[in-house]
Amino acid sequence: MARIIAGVTSSHVPAIGAAIDNHRTSEPYWQRVFEGFERSKEWMAQTKPDVIICVYNDHASAFSVEVIPTFALGCAAEFPPADEGWGPRPVPVVKGHPELASHIAQSVILDEFDLTIANKLEVDHGLTVPLNLVCGSPKEWPCPVIPLAVNVVMYPPPTGNRCWMLGRAIKKAVESYPEDLRVVIFGTGGMSHQISGQRAGLINSKFDHAFLDNLTKNPKKLTRISHLELMREAGAEGIEMVMWLIMRGALDDQVDEVYRFYTVPASNTAVGHIILENRKKVGKKPAAKLKRAAARKKVQRIRS
Ligand code: DHB
Ligand code: FE
Repeated sequence: MARIIAGVTSSHVPAIGAAIDNHRTSEPYWQRVFEGFERSKEWMAQTKPDVIICVYNDHASAFSVEVIPTFALGCAAEFPPADEGWGPRPVPVVKGHPELASHIAQSVILDEFDLTIANKLEVDHGLTVPLNLVCGSPKEWPCPVIPLAVNVVMYPPPTGNRCWMLGRAIKKAVESYPEDLRVVIFGTGGMSHQISGQRAGLINSKFDHAFLDNLTKNPKKLTRISHLELMREAGAEGIEMVMWLIMRGALDDQVDEVYRFYTVPASNTAVGHIILENRKKVGKKPAAKLKRAAARKKVQRIRS
């Protein structure tokens, strides 16, 4: 049986991608941002998921404003980087997992979520920047990635509660997939930021920290935040944080927060990042069990 073992959230600022592509990550401004993801890269290298489901938003790159699906699941075999105005980013083509993606689409649609099936999809910074932050810049991404694009660019985006419920449906879908796959789900975007208008440059660290605290311990509270409140507190583009609730809804109620990083600013945005692990580990014995097993072995050695 496939299982979601962990969830990762990360901001997805395009200037972070430009800093990587133009080899500027060691400049003091950027070093502060990238240092915060060193531990995450180690975590990813140790965790070695079989598949990543990446919840992100397209910024009018693949979907023009003429067609805007609320939720679109990438079921293709490959997802090339999108041209966002200065040529596609020099990052590997994202390899998909059409079998698991089709299974999720079927399960979730039969559970009454009106998901759009994307058999051709170019992915923009919303997806490639978090992959870089957590996986580094390898020649090939470490595993297949299933993109889930969510509309947060044109009103009305889905509610936080709808996102949570979709996360629940994705969890159920993954757990009914027969192959033993260890899946990590990403929720990208956020945290507080506003790119245009009178409040451009808005950042609300107090709100962001409370959001991170609740994401781990009391996520249901976050599902009750209205769009208006989210945008008032976290800026117009802070609405991206509803996507984090898909990630959190796909995890167990009880999770361990294994890492958190927050820094202000990167471009216009407060960078927030968290790694949450489900307690029931797959392919790994829980630490306490391992310790007990080691102690038993020691006792046996002493006795024999
Ligand atoms: C910025 C942040 C975003 O999330 C985005 O999609 C575009 C720009 C920024 O901070 O510049
Ligand atoms: Fe964005």
